[in-house]
Amino acid sequence: MKHIIVGTDRLHSNSQRMAEIVQGLYQANGEAVEIIEIKDIMKGLVASPQYGNVTDPLLKAATDKVEKSDGLIIITPEYNGSFPGALKYFIDHLRYPDAFEARPVCFVGIGGMFGGLRPVEHLQQVFGYRNAYVFPERIFVMNVWNHFKKSDSNPDGAFQDQLILGLLMKQAKNFTTFVESLKTARLHALTK
Ligand SMILES: Cc1cc2nc3c(=O)[nH]c(=O)nc-3n(C[C@H](O)[C@H](O)[C@H](O)COP(=O)(O)O)c2cc1C
Repeated sequence: MKHIIVGTDRLHSNSQRMAEIVQGLYQANGEAVEIIEIKDIMKGLVASPQYGNVTDPLLKAATDKVEKSDGLIIITPEYNGSFPGALKYFIDHLRYPDAFEARPVCFVGIGGMFGGLRPVEHLQQVFGYRNAYVFPERIFVMNVWNHFKKSDSNPDGAFQDQLILGLLMKQAKNFTTFVESLKTARLHALTK
């Protein structure tokens, strides 16, 4: 199973809403994808640092999922020109050095006028360093708050940008092909 990681622990975050949209697109393709919420494991993370020896049950469940995942889809917001510290803290609790070794990963960035380009590029460095397979098709959502604005014609603030939805659907389909190709070639973490 693939996993979507919400890249922040901020409550009611736009990243969480984007994660639900992306999950829906994978489901529409007939694929179950699970969301991992950093906000749900933050208590375990801050209670006591558990580098290399995770004991908190919720945190352990999350690290186990990542370390056995078919593929990771990271939804990252831009915080101060990079990805959130909460995401880095979670990454630093995953098994080093092999948690991402030969594991496919793809990215959706959200932010202001640069659409989360900076956090995605910083994450590509981290995942490239850890020998993940970085999927090259990235999606950037500019001025993300506008996409969830409520109005008379859109009372729920539902995401309606068809161009971005089309790009997200294409990314989902192609990422699945990428993951399956790596498995068939026995290059994937789970088939090597
Ligand atoms: C702590 C913080 C720092 C931010 N820094 C930036 C930034 O450097 N560049 C930018 O374009 N947007 C920045 N923003 C705006 C966020 O990218 C935008 O509000 C986004 O929705 C936040 O993601 P979230 O809703 O998932 O927390 C920042 C927001 C927060 C909360």
